[in-house]
Amino acid sequence: MVSRVIPVETFDLVIFGGTGDLARRKILPGLFRRFRAGQMPPGSRIIGAARSEMDDDGYRQMIREAIAEFGGDEKTDSDGIESFVAQLRYVAIDATGEGGWAQLAELMRGDVVRAFYFSVAPSLFGALAERLHAHGIADSESRIVVEKPFGRDLASAKALNATLAEHFDEQQIYRIDHYLGKETVQNLMAVRFGNVLFEPLWNSHYIDHIQITVAETVGVTGRGAYYDKSGAMRDMVQNHLMQLLCLIAMEPPSTYDADTVRDEKLKVIRALQAVEPHHIVRGQYDASAQGLSYREDAENPRSFTESFLAMKCHIANWRWATVPFYLRTGKRLKARSSEIAVVFKDLGHTIFEGDTARHRNILSIRLQPNEGMDLQVTIKEPGPGGMRLVDVPLDMSFAEALGPDQEAPDAYERLIMDVIRGNQTLFMRGDEVEAAWAWTDPIIEGWEARNDVPKLYDAGSAGPEDAMMLLHREGRRWRDIKG
Ligand SMILES: NC(=O)c1ccc[n+]([C@@H]2O[C@H](COP(=O)([O-])OP(=O)(O)OC[C@H]3O[C@@H](n4cnc5c(N)ncnc54)[C@H](OP(=O)(O)O)[C@@H]3O)[C@@H](O)[C@H]2O)c1
Repeated sequence: MVSRVIPVETFDLVIFGGTGDLARRKILPGLFRRFRAGQMPPGSRIIGAARSEMDDDGYRQMIREAIAEFGGDEKTDSDGIESFVAQLRYVAIDATGEGGWAQLAELMRGDVVRAFYFSVAPSLFGALAERLHAHGIADSESRIVVEKPFGRDLASAKALNATLAEHFDEQQIYRIDHYLGKETVQNLMAVRFGNVLFEPLWNSHYIDHIQITVAETVGVTGRGAYYDKSGAMRDMVQNHLMQLLCLIAMEPPSTYDADTVRDEKLKVIRALQAVEPHHIVRGQYDASAQGLSYREDAENPRSFTESFLAMKCHIANWRWATVPFYLRTGKRLKARSSEIAVVFKDLGHTIFEGDTARHRNILSIRLQPNEGMDLQVTIKEPGPGGMRLVDVPLDMSFAEALGPDQEAPDAYERLIMDVIRGNQTLFMRGDEVEAAWAWTDPIIEGWEARNDVPKLYDAGSAGPEDAMMLLHREGRRWRDIKG
C-alpha cells in the first residue's frame, strides 16, 4: 500500500511555549517528520516563542538537540535536520507582558496560513489571545491550538471557553486531544462507516458489551504534584476515554465534516447516564520492587487521588440501551496497552454436538502498541479429529498494511497538519468539552463528599480486585492487558 502525502498550504506556525517539554519532545520532532515526508512546504516557518532570551540560532540548536533526543530513525538525517532548522525562528515573548509582540507582528506574513499553538499553561491562554488581537497578529482566518487540560471542571472549562471566545470564533479554536489523532481512531470511523459488515450489527441486539482500556506501566514520578490534583478521571477519562466512547457509540454522521461528526459525538455524551457509585472502582498503586507507592510518588501521604479507575457506563438511547460500556485506565499496570473491544453476543444455539465453549466474536481495536485491529472468529480447529471449534483472531497491523518503507504520521503530526488544512474533525468542540465535564463533575463531587478512599493495587497487576468483580459479578471478564 502506498500512502499519498498531500502538502499543506504554506504557513507561519507560532509555538508559544516553544522551549517547553511538549514542544521539544513532540511538536518539533513531529514537524520535522512532516517536513521530511514533503508535507511542509519549503516557505513555511515555525516560530518558537517563550520568555527565555535567545536568538534564532540558539533556538535552532535547541531543536537540533531535541530531535537528537526525542526523534526516531530520522534523527540521523543531518542534511534534513539542517534544512528543517533553517525554517525556524525565535522571538522572546512574555505572554503577560508587552515585550516581543511588535517583533512577532513584524515577522508574521499576511499571505500564508497563520496558526498559534498555545503550548503553555492554560492560565496564559487569555493573555495570549488578548495580545494576539491587540497587536493585530491574529485575524479572522487565524487558528489557535490549545492543549489539555481544558479546565478541571465545568465552571473552569466554561470560563476558558468564554475567554477564548472573546477573541476567536469556534471555527478558529483547535482543542487537541492527541488520542483523536491516532491512526486507529480514524480507522474506527472507516471500519464502522466504510463497510457494510459492521453497522447492521452495531447495536444492543448483537453487542453484549464494550470495553475501553487505556493502561500505562509508568507511575506519576516527576509529575506527581500535577497529577495529584487531577487523577485518572480528569487526566484520562473526561477527555481521552470519553472521546473513544463517543466514536464507538455515535450515530452515523450524514457527512464526514467537522460539525456533523462533532454533533453526533455530543449527543452521545449528553445521553450518558449518571454512574452509580457501586459501578466505579478507584485505585492507587502500592509500593513495589518497581518503585514507590502512588502516595510517595505524589509526595502526599494522605492523597485520595485515584491512579486507577474502572467504571460501568450506560448510554440512554435506542441503540445502546442495555449495553454496558466498561471503561478502565490506570498507571503502573502490567502492560502499556490501549484497546477498545467490542464483544458480540453468544450465538444462543450451537449445531455442533459436544461444543460447550462460549464462542464470541470480538472486534478489538488497538491504539497501542502496534496500532491495528483483530476480529476474533470461530473456525474449525485445523486437522483431523472431527468438528472441534476454536476461536482465532483475524489480525491486521496498520504498520504492516502501510508497507515496510512507510510510516504513518503520529498523532501530533497529523493533528498539526489538520490545523493548517483548517480541518476541525479531530478536535474537540467547546460544547463537547463542557458536556463531558457536566457528566464528570457529579462523580468527582460524590467522591469528595464521601471522602472516598481508593483501593490499593499491586504495581504490575491489572488493578484492584474490585475492578475484576465489576465484570465478574455480571458473568463477564476484562480482556487481558497485553503489551
Ligand atoms: N508535556 C506534555 O507531554 C504535555 C502533554 C499534554 C498536554 N501538555 C500541556 O501543554 C502545555 C505545555 O506543557 P509543557 O510540558 O511543555 O510545559 P513546560 O515544559 O513547563 O513548558 C512551558 C513553556 O511555556 C513557556 N512559558 C512559561 N511562562 C510563559 C510566559 N509567561 N510567557 C511566555 N511563555 C511562557 C516556557 O518557557 P519560558 O520559561 O522560557 O517562558 C516553556 O516554553 C501545558 O498546558 C500542559 O498541560 C503537555
